Amino acid sequence: MKPLLTIFLTLQLGAVMAQKPACVPTGLQCEHLVNPLGLDTPAPRFSWRLDDSRRGARQTAWQLAVGTDSAALAGGKADSWQTAKTATNQGLVTYQGSSLKPFTTYFWRLTVWDKDGKPASSAIARFETGMMQQKNWLGAWISDVNNVDLKPAPYFRKGFTVTKKIRSARAYIAAGGLYELYINGEKTGNHRLDPMYTRFDRRTLYVTYDVTKQLQTGKNAIGVLLGNGWYNHQSTAVWYFHQAPWRARPTFCLDLRITYDDGTTETIASGKDWKTALSPVIFNSIYTAEHYDARLEQPGWNTASFDDATWKNVLLRAAPSTNVVAQAMHPVRNVEAIPARQMRRINDTTVVFDLGRTISGVSQFRVSGPAGTVIRLKHGERVYPTGLVDMSNIDVHYRPTDKSDPFQTDIFILNGKGDEQFMPHFNYKGFQYVEVTSNKPLTLSEKNLTGYFMHSDVPPAGLVSSSSETINKLWWATNNSYLSNLFGYPTDCPQREKNGWTGDAHIAVETGLYGFDGITIYEKWLADHRDEQQPNGVLPSIIPTGGWGYEWGNGPDWTSTITLIPWNVYLFYGDSKILADNYEAMKRYVDRITAISPNGLTTWGLGDWVPVKSKTPVEFTSSVYYFTDASIVAKAAKILGKQADFVAYTALANKIKNAVNAKYYHPETGLYGQGVQTELSVPLHWGIVPDDQKSKVAANLAKRVQADNTHLDVGLLGTKSILNALSENGYADIAYQVASQETYPSWGWWIKNGATTLYENWPIDAKSDISMNHIMFGEIGAWLYKAPGGIKPDPEQPGFRNILLEPHFVKGLNQFEAAHEGPNGLIKSAWSRGSDGITYSVVVPANSGATLTLHLSPGQQLWENGQVVKPLQTTSGNTARYTLQAGSYSFSIR
Ligand code: BGC
Repeated sequence: MKPLLTIFLTLQLGAVMAQKPACVPTGLQCEHLVNPLGLDTPAPRFSWRLDDSRRGARQTAWQLAVGTDSAALAGGKADSWQTAKTATNQGLVTYQGSSLKPFTTYFWRLTVWDKDGKPASSAIARFETGMMQQKNWLGAWISDVNNVDLKPAPYFRKGFTVTKKIRSARAYIAAGGLYELYINGEKTGNHRLDPMYTRFDRRTLYVTYDVTKQLQTGKNAIGVLLGNGWYNHQSTAVWYFHQAPWRARPTFCLDLRITYDDGTTETIASGKDWKTALSPVIFNSIYTAEHYDARLEQPGWNTASFDDATWKNVLLRAAPSTNVVAQAMHPVRNVEAIPARQMRRINDTTVVFDLGRTISGVSQFRVSGPAGTVIRLKHGERVYPTGLVDMSNIDVHYRPTDKSDPFQTDIFILNGKGDEQFMPHFNYKGFQYVEVTSNKPLTLSEKNLTGYFMHSDVPPAGLVSSSSETINKLWWATNNSYLSNLFGYPTDCPQREKNGWTGDAHIAVETGLYGFDGITIYEKWLADHRDEQQPNGVLPSIIPTGGWGYEWGNGPDWTSTITLIPWNVYLFYGDSKILADNYEAMKRYVDRITAISPNGLTTWGLGDWVPVKSKTPVEFTSSVYYFTDASIVAKAAKILGKQADFVAYTALANKIKNAVNAKYYHPETGLYGQGVQTELSVPLHWGIVPDDQKSKVAANLAKRVQADNTHLDVGLLGTKSILNALSENGYADIAYQVASQETYPSWGWWIKNGATTLYENWPIDAKSDISMNHIMFGEIGAWLYKAPGGIKPDPEQPGFRNILLEPHFVKGLNQFEAAHEGPNGLIKSAWSRGSDGITYSVVVPANSGATLTLHLSPGQQLWENGQVVKPLQTTSGNTARYTLQAGSYSFSIR
């Protein structure tokens, strides 16, 4: 029987629901975050969507109010910004009110008018400003100023007394290195590895926390544990991070700003009155591992009652950079706990745990044993036939100088005081297996180890599900690799390198954006690009970098991130800020290529990296990327109203296109170069092929793929283009055959062999380039949304204000569903094949429209509710075009 209260509440809720207006503004975000704290921008962006499922739902007007007093705002008074009622359907607007003040909470509220002109107001949302200007910092940068090579991580602490009643409190903390902040013994927030990696000597990030609840009237203590991160890289590998120009002993600056009930404020800041001591973290490296000696623990070190008389005074030092800015992005977290699935005992002192899947992150180990027991936790992606962890696929670029810093191996020394627990503070790894060895036998079971999948905690924004088990697993594995390679900047792999390889990231950007709400990460990473760009336009191949990468691998096929990332973010979010912010950098980049490539062709690049077998000339692919860059600059110029640039870069793009076609295209045969898969698909995908030659080139590509037994013969650059070039030019069935292969060489071959992530090389027994968690072949993820799903952004109305829907009901699949949560809400495209044709359901979110393109068989028509839907237009063959307004549709095609 239902308790009465539940029945009552259900009835109440029912009544409330019944009153809910048909259209409500919802999903309010500021700077693409929900109620963010600590913003520095003087002009934050506001975005929203409509909760309105009616057919044709749209916004006819909007009005925004921003103020510092939420009660006044609720009553219709806004003291910061009050816009006029504006008759547009935009869902994104940039603040233009009175100057924002630092440390201030602003409330905002939106009123929209629906399709019938009926108004509805949103709930009140908020954002809070942070420092806004460097001069608002009161704290000093402090450190223990030990030698950069000293291994143990330092603790810092300060006790203080609060006499008045606290209304609210914020902690602002910036660090060179990584920090964990504690107040009264408790860790603040659930972020990991903060602050995110930047080029520390150009831009240092700070993070804001609401710590109101952690403080108390009376005695308090703040504790900070500082790690090395990329700031003080002590491990030695081929990229010379240990020689980074910014390298120094970790340092931080903190302002704890308390607002009292009487309206006064007080700031407890880092300074000379802080104390420091070395912590039990006796070694920490973001790249390799962490060592922890629990015998060195100082219980209560971060609480008020702790006696720090034996601790040392801190030293003041210079800030790492004079550009300390807010970290306004989704943080890294321990996103998913993965219990060990199996523990295999090798001998008395060695066991191997298996998580059952490959991840990026850490393991947490719980155990009890005698004091001084040394436990080594060696993390790897594969095991030898003996069951021991095999590191040979991931430690190849590591150059240790001695045995004290073993790769991906945490060392945990017990204090013998009962149940003990260890999880690294300042490191992550790529692994599936953990080999645990101890110098004394321990009692262990699966329960002693848990893996944590760590990554930038970007909200999921996509879904793919189909009648093919392999495709479903492949989609999941692609997401796993995308997330494993997202730590505040995109990386190539979470183990061997953790490098921000540019090429891998632009290949994967669409996969990322269909699947996850990643704008905040990409905006930050593009700022990293601007920090790294030389005055002459050159970018390094890995970003950020300690210096390596300006001389190798940084041609347009990799570093076109500077154009491709902003362009794709613009397409997915309809937000042109990233184009405006990077416009000069993009232009400088293209001008640089032009300066060294006067004839329109460039040999600068790496080419089709890790190919199956066929090679494509570097000049060909790099010049196509150069063309793409020039085209994006031209498009951005148009959007930003820079007419002269638009003309100049359009002309440049045409010049490059002509040069590529003159040298590589053979009109008599319709082939580029030798006509291998990359050579034919790259120009089709990137729009180099003259319009009247497209069908010929596409037919040749289809033939080539069939001659290759409908298997892949591409490397990194070809994986981006092969499926798209086929499906966009009339060969979707062939594309799907390639995409769904389960024998070598294919993505499915990995899956059939147990992959839970994507690999770096096609053969599973390759001898080099054999990371098991690379995203560089990850375009397959995006293609599933684009081709069988048919969901694409419309460059004319970006941010999915118009959706280009073009599902391909490919042979081999009986059912397919793709969904993407765009700025206006959920977009869905789902179909299934039945005996009487295709059932196709579509959701177009409120305030969006869609252009549906269907490739019908002769005699086929589109039906809804027993009626034939008339196409707007039927083009060549049986391609029919329809316009859809917002709403849910259930069609059949027969
Ligand atoms: C990385 C790749 C990267 C490549 C550049 C490798 O070591 O892991 O993913 O793009 O170098 O050539």
